[in-house]
Amino acid sequence: MINVSTIIAGVKLDGCVFNASGIRCETLTDLENLAKSESAAILTKSCTLEARKGNPIPRYANLEYGSINSMGLPNPGYKAYLKFSKIIKKKYKKPFIASICGMTLSDNIKMFKEFNNTPIDLIEFNPGSPNTIGKPIVGYDFTQMDRLLNAISKVAKKPFGIKLPPFFEPIHFNQMAKVLKKYPVKFITCVNTLGHGLAIDPKTERAIIKPKNGLGGIAGKYIKPTGLGNVRRFYELLDDKIQIIGVGGIYTGTDAFEYILAGASAVQIGTAFLQKGFGIFETVQDELTQIMKAKGYTKLSDFRGKLKTL
Ligand code: SIN
Repeated sequence: MINVSTIIAGVKLDGCVFNASGIRCETLTDLENLAKSESAAILTKSCTLEARKGNPIPRYANLEYGSINSMGLPNPGYKAYLKFSKIIKKKYKKPFIASICGMTLSDNIKMFKEFNNTPIDLIEFNPGSPNTIGKPIVGYDFTQMDRLLNAISKVAKKPFGIKLPPFFEPIHFNQMAKVLKKYPVKFITCVNTLGHGLAIDPKTERAIIKPKNGLGGIAGKYIKPTGLGNVRRFYELLDDKIQIIGVGGIYTGTDAFEYILAGASAVQIGTAFLQKGFGIFETVQDELTQIMKAKGYTKLSDFRGKLKTL
């Protein structure tokens, strides 16, 4: 019997594959559909204090090997998600994860406090979005991250994790790991989109999306090696004390297997969920199960983090 269940920050998930924040998880209907699907958890769109319309359209496009987006965090505001979480948790047993992306320190503190009084299971804090016009990617500012985590840790009663932007420099991995270790961060999600990519339509000679003169976050197959590298490096640096959720270019069971081998305790699916629909959760998990069976593994811990090097 193959067991692909996992435990994230003490919360049991029946499977190890669920949706990435941002894709089909904005409305109550979206969240209810996720509850009914094979997604192992229900993760919301990142919410802000006030409702946001997001960036001008077109702001998302499928690309040959993934996608580009500059959505700009369109969401109905955190109060909607306080309400949605209560409705969903009354009807479904599945773990519910709220994604929070406040524009300021005080917005984040307020939202963390408010989610304390809801039935949600976990919080994924998102300081890694490249798409807020006029704002930097907070996750690249280690001093600000330290200040944010310090403040959040004092108020959060729900277990929380951080969705990180992708890192590329050894020193940056070290600096972020040092900050994370100071606080009760239970998990990190690696990686958010690869910021400020540009997709061009050569026929029209135009950028494909409108915001930021065409610059947006790149996702899908383009970023899988970056996602794997980030999972692996943080797995080594965090001594397995902070769990890792892998995301970036997962379309198949093999992709999920590789992320777990690199050290992930669960994986999320974003672009492939949008492109292929709800069946992707079952497909990826079934394929993963087949791979495990063929290799004689019965549970994720049989191979999680056990990447061999040359
Ligand atoms: C967006 O809404 O712009 C995407 C959010 C993110 O990249 O974290």
